[in-house]
Amino acid sequence: MNSVEGKIALISGGARGLGGMSAKKLAQAGAKVVITDLREEEALATLDEIESAGGQAKFIKHDVALEEDWIEAVKFTVEQFGGLDILVNNAGVASAARPLEELSLESWRRLTSINLDGVFLGIKHAIPHLRERAHLWSGGGSIINISSIMGFIGGARSAAYCASKGGVRLLTKAAALELASSKIRVNSVHPGFINTPLFRGGVEQAEQRVQGGGQKFIDAVVSRHPIGRLGEEQDIANAVRYLASDDSAFMTGTEMVVDGGYLAQ
Ligand SMILES: NC(=O)c1ccc[n+]([C@@H]2O[C@H](COP(=O)([O-])OP(=O)(O)OC[C@H]3O[C@@H](n4cnc5c(N)ncnc54)[C@H](O)[C@@H]3O)[C@@H](O)[C@H]2O)c1
Repeated sequence: MNSVEGKIALISGGARGLGGMSAKKLAQAGAKVVITDLREEEALATLDEIESAGGQAKFIKHDVALEEDWIEAVKFTVEQFGGLDILVNNAGVASAARPLEELSLESWRRLTSINLDGVFLGIKHAIPHLRERAHLWSGGGSIINISSIMGFIGGARSAAYCASKGGVRLLTKAAALELASSKIRVNSVHPGFINTPLFRGGVEQAEQRVQGGGQKFIDAVVSRHPIGRLGEEQDIANAVRYLASDDSAFMTGTEMVVDGGYLAQ
């Protein structure tokens, strides 16, 4: 079930958080995994964990905003493992909450260069390799783009983040239509709030503003999820593994919302 046995995956931002857990799940299910990230130390720790559990993984340092880095990361994957079957465009950043009037063009460009340009570049450079091996699998090649519930709804003081995640949602559909005939599937995943280092950074900021503010922030966030808890990394990694596997062979251009009911309200 959800097997990715023998497939080769590249996961951007795979050092920690959702990317790290996705890398572990895919490796556990039999994929060979390349983790790319800017954070070397955390990436090597994740790599160690995968290898100690008997999985196969490699790491390459990579800034997803840079096209030359993407070319290198894809080349490295092909050299190390002999091809590419699964691309998880996961690397992403959140911005400090800021009103639009105070948002500099530089901050806007920095965030969108990672969260949106990074996804475009990943898709672009992965295509020839995914296409080459797509015939090997009943589900073909698979591209999984990590968007957000903020790719559906707006959030005040989060314009760049929402714009980037909405962009990923429609980039996914355009790519899915273009690549279907090459047997490459492209889907987006839309997490609610998930307990990762990124989320915990937000909690720390709230605590620094007001004592006890961190817990209030967590309570407020949890209350917006009808299931009554934050998401855990494995909630998203399970969705990634499913979309990477041949079990999802008839799914392309779609949005997998994993949000504890947040968007159903
Ligand atoms: N945690 C949440 O609540 C949540 C909710 C919705 C969507 N997401 C999305 O999920 C993805 C993963 O988030 P997370 O919570 O695991 O974050 P995280 O900060 O814990 O992990 C993200 C990883 O991406 C890496 N990264 C950042 N910029 C990079 C760059 N330019 N090049 C390469 N790597 C880079 C980081 O070093 C980090 O290891 C992001 O795209 C995020 O927007 C997260």
